[in-house]
Amino acid sequence: MKLLKFNLIFIPFLALCLGLVGYTARTMLLNDARQHVIQNARIIMETMLSSRTYTTKQVAPMLEQNNFKLQTAIEQFRKTIDQMPKTVDPNAGKDLRGSEKKGFILGMQRALEMQQQFLDSVKGKPEELIDTEFHPQSVPAFAATEIFGYLREKFPDYFYKEATLNPTNPRDRATDWESDVVNQFRGSPALAEFISTRESPTGTALFLARPIKINNVSCLECHSTPDKAPAEMIKLYGGDNGFGWHLNDIIGAQIVSVPVSVPVHFAEDAFRVIIGWLAGAFGGILIIANIAVALVTRKRP
Ligand code: HEC
Repeated sequence: MKLLKFNLIFIPFLALCLGLVGYTARTMLLNDARQHVIQNARIIMETMLSSRTYTTKQVAPMLEQNNFKLQTAIEQFRKTIDQMPKTVDPNAGKDLRGSEKKGFILGMQRALEMQQQFLDSVKGKPEELIDTEFHPQSVPAFAATEIFGYLREKFPDYFYKEATLNPTNPRDRATDWESDVVNQFRGSPALAEFISTRESPTGTALFLARPIKINNVSCLECHSTPDKAPAEMIKLYGGDNGFGWHLNDIIGAQIVSVPVSVPVHFAEDAFRVIIGWLAGAFGGILIIANIAVALVTRKRP
């Protein structure tokens, strides 16, 4: 009878403890998994920002500098050509006599003819060396998107986009939900970061977004009106998209999306193990406690 009473109190108590510990452990594990996912997303975001900085600080200036060096060399070349004699000097060979003088002048004329042939053959060639083509590789947005493309070959569930409402490159156009994110930033300019989850075709994904703001007048060279942008860029992208941006406009958002299924699975596996061990331990405690109570309350003969 005493054992029954003991169990009537002890079993609900153990079950309550198990429930409380289980609930706390699960909340902590899932929270931890979420923090892990956020940290992952942040690292990707910072990597993308670094690749943007690398492009701005190292790639773009190098292309410009190379062209500048070439232009200087070509100018020098032109100057040298201009300074070359174009006609036979009438005073040349004045110390020579008769046939010697004739031969000398003839030689000079031939040399000048050869020189002219050479000049004709290189006419316009040096300019061809100058690289007038527009290289998207020097555009930070392009670099970041391309770099992530390579990463995605290995991690197809991860995703990065410079989602833009009116993009230069159509692949950057914001989709429905991305436009909502951009508009959220446009609606509250003080918002620096936005984290949320969404259901994607590959499962639940956490996304981290940051606003893209036109914070430098240099951006307007290529994004204000087509007539201000480099002609070679227009040739490549056309003059319809990616223009009409203004200083301090929020025109898009960088969005990193990371799958949550893997860390959540890990967390749930860990939770099952913890609960399994805990239930076993509580079961053991119950048995030992029952034996102890039975021994203590045993009627001595
Ligand atoms: C030399 C011209 C040039 C300058 C200067 C420039 N951009 Fe761009 N930008 C481009 C081109 C070209 C693209 C399209 C790249 C691609 O194909 O992915 C682009 C793309 C972008 C994108 C991706 C969305 C889209 O339009 O496809 C963003 C965001 C962007 N630029 C922001 C900026 C900001 C911010 C600045 C100033 C800090 C800036 N750009 C300066 C030429 C430029």
